[in-house]
Amino acid sequence: MQHDIHSKILGSGVAIPPKTLTNADLEKIVDTSDQWIRERTGMVVRHVVDENRQNSDLASEAALKALDDAKMTAEEIETIIVATVTGDVTFPSTACYVQSKIGAVNAAAFDVQAACSGFLFGLNIADSFITAGKSKNVLIIGCEVLTRIVDWQDRSTCVLFGDAAGAAIVGPSSGDGRGILGTFIKTDGRLTQLLWMPGGGTRYPADVALAENLNSIKMRGQEVFKHAVTAMGDAATHIMEITGLTADDVDLLIPHQANKRIIDATARRMKVSPDKVFVNVTKYGNTSAASIPVAFDEAMKSGALKTGDICVMVAFGGGFTWGSAAIRV
Ligand code: UT7
Repeated sequence: MQHDIHSKILGSGVAIPPKTLTNADLEKIVDTSDQWIRERTGMVVRHVVDENRQNSDLASEAALKALDDAKMTAEEIETIIVATVTGDVTFPSTACYVQSKIGAVNAAAFDVQAACSGFLFGLNIADSFITAGKSKNVLIIGCEVLTRIVDWQDRSTCVLFGDAAGAAIVGPSSGDGRGILGTFIKTDGRLTQLLWMPGGGTRYPADVALAENLNSIKMRGQEVFKHAVTAMGDAATHIMEITGLTADDVDLLIPHQANKRIIDATARRMKVSPDKVFVNVTKYGNTSAASIPVAFDEAMKSGALKTGDICVMVAFGGGFTWGSAAIRV
């Protein structure tokens, strides 16, 4: 197996709001049950950000931890990419607020909007920037405050989402064979209306969005589920082809944490055994762009991923977008 190593993850960090929302709590808000949520999604708990904290606060907390983990200062960051669909404001980008909050004065900062695949889109960009010599150290943060854009009267969506941030510092590989082995991203913009938030942009001005209840996540769950299984499989197949990896080479699969049933289907399709699949949807719910970096950090810190292991990440989200990455950590 021959790979050109261009970039690698130098450190990671997360921010998880302390406040929790359990299935039992949700039973008091909508007509649902702990049993339904567990059986259909695998979820038990999610976290909810405090009213006085914004996306950029959570993102900055994760970023500072990632910098600490990489033993790096904020001044050494040349590019900041924030992957989110729940930014502080419509513009400027949340990455600008993060830059200011962490003091990364030498960076260019921008957001990537690719829903749940956002972190892997960011990783693809970071790898490309580093490979092309356009940037040395890139900070990528997947950060979401989804509990502020769910419709708390819609039981088919409000039980699914949580808040979190996960950050990674990506820099040049030191040539020790460790690093990003390959990345893959894809979009199908014909399916935008299966999972979206119509309000918040220019198409439905604020007064219209408010009157027509468009300021929240709208999802056609069953259809999204079917596309998710197909697209996650497609992303997995592509990354194995790009890198020449086989299922036996994979030490840990980190799938986007949207639904335990989608995770299981992806693992089956990849022929990766369940003990090699990282699952934390139980305790965070679906945190969209934060899902993969939070899982990666947990896998690194818990020892589920050890130096030299091969990790494959696969995500799918609104757009539709999907992507994958393979890393020797
Ligand atoms: O993050 C990126 C993308 N997002 C996803 O990948 C999510 C993909 N979709 C899913 O994970 C699943 O479709 C859901 C978890 C959202 C829903 O599961 P499902 O098995 O597809 O359920 P369903 O939508 O087919 O609904 C089945 C039943 C319906 O009742 P009837 O019509 O059979 O009487 C729903 O009204 O379950 C009902 N239902 C609920 N019942 C209790 C829907 N939501 C709830 C709920 N509690 N929270």
